[in-house]
Amino acid sequence: MAFDFSGKTALITGGSAGIGAEISKGIVAGGGHVVVCARNAEKGQKFVNEVLGKGNYFYQLDISKPAETRATIVKILDEVPSIDILINNAGRISAKPFEEIDDVEWAATIDTNLTGTFTVTSAIFPYFKKRGGGRIVNVSSVAGKIGGGLLGTAAYASSKAGVNGLTKAVAKEGGKYGISCNAVCPSFTITSMTSELQDDPIKNKKVLSIIPLGRAAKASEPAQMVLFFASDLASFVNGEVGDCDGGIVMDG
Ligand SMILES: NC(=O)c1ccc[n+]([C@@H]2O[C@H](COP(=O)([O-])OP(=O)(O)OC[C@H]3O[C@@H](n4cnc5c(N)ncnc54)[C@H](O)[C@@H]3O)[C@@H](O)[C@H]2O)c1
Repeated sequence: MAFDFSGKTALITGGSAGIGAEISKGIVAGGGHVVVCARNAEKGQKFVNEVLGKGNYFYQLDISKPAETRATIVKILDEVPSIDILINNAGRISAKPFEEIDDVEWAATIDTNLTGTFTVTSAIFPYFKKRGGGRIVNVSSVAGKIGGGLLGTAAYASSKAGVNGLTKAVAKEGGKYGISCNAVCPSFTITSMTSELQDDPIKNKKVLSIIPLGRAAKASEPAQMVLFFASDLASFVNGEVGDCDGGIVMDG
């Protein structure tokens, strides 16, 4: 199913692999354009050229580096005719048991997942404000709601809980400018991030046993929920931290 993105351009971090690639493809399938931002220039440019095609862009970006990230966003806003949607999808897993998480692991996880999401959002917020609005969607995780435990552990869960709080705060402060901010919390999804869970039959069985639907998601499944939040069909949805987790979290 394609949502209508005609005339719209979305900036997507980590938009050339996994869930992000499916989001990019969904925007283009809906008639929109995509600015893919990722670390690996060769891979990212190839994805844009060969999968997305003309009218789409690639910029090299490491969201864990705030100064470089801000400079790249300024460049994008200068070079791309308009940006209507921001999708903060890039993220890193952290799967060490709590007692093995050192300062380096903690900082790397928070720097990418939480601070990176903040940096990109804060760099684009004044632009959205000036142009009268924009839609922001953050790819969070069920880990942020339940304290981790599927694959991601304390640093990952904390970073994604932070993303959930940031989502609500940006929704509150951005609303008056027509800026909406929502988040999607996937659970176990088949991407390179979860290869360890996919390949280990014992861990795999354990994780599937806590998912009421009893299976992992395809990358296109959380992507569909992101696309809905990014589309005009969700025009009055703001500050929602939605679950796409096969039924793990059921809040009332
Ligand atoms: N796969 C899952 O089970 C799952 C579950 C819940 C949430 N998520 C979240 O979904 C999002 C997408 O993950 P995925 O499963 O598609 O994994 P993936 O590894 O396929 O994709 C992650 C993308 O983020 C990019 N990235 C990582 N660090 C970056 C950085 N510092 N700067 C720029 N790009 C960076 C990677 O290069 C990659 O393109 C992540 O935020 C992840 O935390 C995934």
